[in-house]
Formats: sequence, C-alpha cells, structure tokens
Amino acid sequence: MDKPTVRLDATRAKDLAKAIQWLREGRIGALPTETVYGLAGDATREFVVEKLFQAKGRPAHDPLIVHVSSPEAASRYGSFSESTRALLQEFWPGPLTLIVPKTDLIPYRVTAGLSTVAIRIPAHDRMRGLLARGDLALAAPSANTFGKLSPTRPEHVLQQLEGKIDFVLDDGPTGWGVESTVLDVSHPGHWKLYRPGPIALEQIADWVEQSKQEIQLVNCSEQANPKQEQKPLPSPGILSRHYAPRTPVRLVSPGDMEKVEEQILKGKPWGLLKTGLSPIKTASAPEPPLYYSSEDGTLESAARNFYARLHAMDEQGYEMLLVEKFPESGLGVALNNRLIRAVTASDAAG
Ligand code: TXA
Ligand code: MG
Repeated sequence: MDKPTVRLDATRAKDLAKAIQWLREGRIGALPTETVYGLAGDATREFVVEKLFQAKGRPAHDPLIVHVSSPEAASRYGSFSESTRALLQEFWPGPLTLIVPKTDLIPYRVTAGLSTVAIRIPAHDRMRGLLARGDLALAAPSANTFGKLSPTRPEHVLQQLEGKIDFVLDDGPTGWGVESTVLDVSHPGHWKLYRPGPIALEQIADWVEQSKQEIQLVNCSEQANPKQEQKPLPSPGILSRHYAPRTPVRLVSPGDMEKVEEQILKGKPWGLLKTGLSPIKTASAPEPPLYYSSEDGTLESAARNFYARLHAMDEQGYEMLLVEKFPESGLGVALNNRLIRAVTASDAAG
C-alpha cells in the first residue's frame, strides 16, 4: 500500500462513520484505546488479518488481541467459563486482556494457530461506540512496527506506519499509556499472567480471594527471561525483544543516578529519563538531556508519558538513552517489564 494514510478526527461524527465504513469494507487503520493506539482490522476475515501482519512486519507466530464492545459479543468469539465471566464483570471494560478458548468465528491466522484467543473490551468510549455501531470484532495489535516503541499519540503511529495503513483516527493522547494486562484464563483453576499492565496482579488476586474462587494465579511474566527465550513460548509476543527505540537503552538503578548525571554534565552525549517520582530537588522543570516521565510525582502520570518521552528522546541523536528503573509495584511493574525488553533489544542490536 503506497497511498497516504488519511487522518480522521475522532471528535467528528462524519469521520467516525467513515472509519466504521472502511473497517467494515476490510480496510485497516489505527484506533485509539485507553492503553495505546491499536492497528485495527476485521478479525473475522483472514485477508484483513493478513494485512495487519504485513503492515506491522509482525511474525506470523505472534497472535493478536480481538477487541469487542460487550460481553455478549465476546461470547461469540471466545468461550467463557463461569469464573471468567465473573472476572470480566469486574474488570471490563478495561485494560485486561483475557485468553480463552476460541470459537470458529476467529480464523487461526489471528491466534497464530493456537486454539485460544485474546479478547478485551476497551474502556474508551469512542472506540467502544465504534465497535458497537459497526458490529465489529477488531483484531488490533499496538500500532507500531514490530519490536518498536508503542504509540500513545497519532504522531507516533504516523512516524512508523505512514503509507502502510488506510487511516489513523485521532483522539489525542491515550489514557494509561501502557499496554493491557494479559491473563490466560483458558485452564480452569489455573490462571497465568503473561504481561503486567494497568490491572495489577494484586488486584486480580484480591478479586479471586474476595469472590472465593478456587484459582491458582501464576505470574509467568517474571519467569520470562528475554535473553534465554525457549520455544514454544506460552505467549509468543510477550517474551520477545520489544518496545525498543532506535537508540540503545540502558537501565539505571536509583542509586546510580547521581553518577550518571555527573557523566552527562561532563559531556557524555546521553539522554537521561528520570521517573519523576522522587521529590524533585530543583524548582525548575528539567531540560534536555534530562527528562522526567511523571509530571506530578504519580506513577499514573509516569505511565501516560513514558512512551512519548522515549519517542522524543529517540529523535535527539543521543548516543545512548539511560532510563531510571521504576519501583516494583503497581504500574511500576508494567513499566519495568517494558524497559527490560527495550534494553534487551538494544543488546541484540549490538
Ligand atoms: O493494550 C493493548 O493490549 C493494546 C491495545 C491496542 O489493545 N494491544 C496490544 O497488542 O498490546 P499486541 O499485539 O501488541 O500484544 C498482544 C499480546 C502479544 O504479546 C501476544 O503474544 C499476546 O498478547 N497474545 C495474543 N493472543 C494470545 C494467545 N492466544 N495466547 C497467548 N498470548 C497471546
Ligand atoms: Mg505490541
């Protein structure tokens, strides 16, 4: 596809109608969700799904998430047990992707040959409205080139996918800024977390306890060591090198921050991304090559800005991006998970 990508405005009814019509015709485009922008197309038609893999340059063994507007719609594409149904009532719409046995309506091209499918209802009113009005089930991986930084703004999408997709539906920056939590609930009584995200494992554990479910929760995202990938992977995309800017990335523990800042002051051509969570010592806002993720000291703000800061720093021509590690709780777990993969991708690139 070499046609320019059309920019649609999500606040205009006419543009929303056009996006629905195009998706129903089998075109593909980037859509906003509450996590990151997704590259969406009709999940029930194989030729459309094929276009998504092509545009992203995604390997065929990495399955996609299907987005729907309601639990009823979800039941057409996946099979939900009683306990999974109770779980989704608690967390949907929201940034929790559930892996369940698939139905025949989902082609194996979507699930990379697996008999399970990843499904979620996004907590984004315009996106959910579009799904409902178009009666659509949309496969939507994050709208970035495979392995690269996820997009939280339409500009990020266009930098990577201009000319490769039919349209981008602009609804400004996304809310959470980090991809959904991925939980495999396809084995009764034995649930597995594959990707940490905005819904923390502790929240799910609390729900299991309160609702007196007989369920063992296993955290598979911690076992994942991207340097020692083994096949077959339980969740193909989750362990691979990922989320990487072009510039090499290094992780800095809070204790080493002063040393790094000193070296930058002495002229090292590095960019430094601080969490912005610890009390800010100076009254003035940081200036390049220093950046903060959080603008107000909260992890929510850090997550919202995280990819945008990395996108911006990647444009500056630094020799290296140094990023302060987040505390290992709540959203910090999800952010560190993405960081470790970005570092591994840099290592792989040498
Ligand atoms: O927040 C999000 O989840 C965003 C927005 C657009 O919804 N989407 C997203 O999609 O991050 P993607 O494709 O970048 O990540 C989906 C992850 C992949 O790592 C994939 O391996 C895993 O979910 N996945 C999908 N189906 C699976 C399955 N049947 N079994 C195991 N893992 C699966
Ligand atoms: Mg992705």
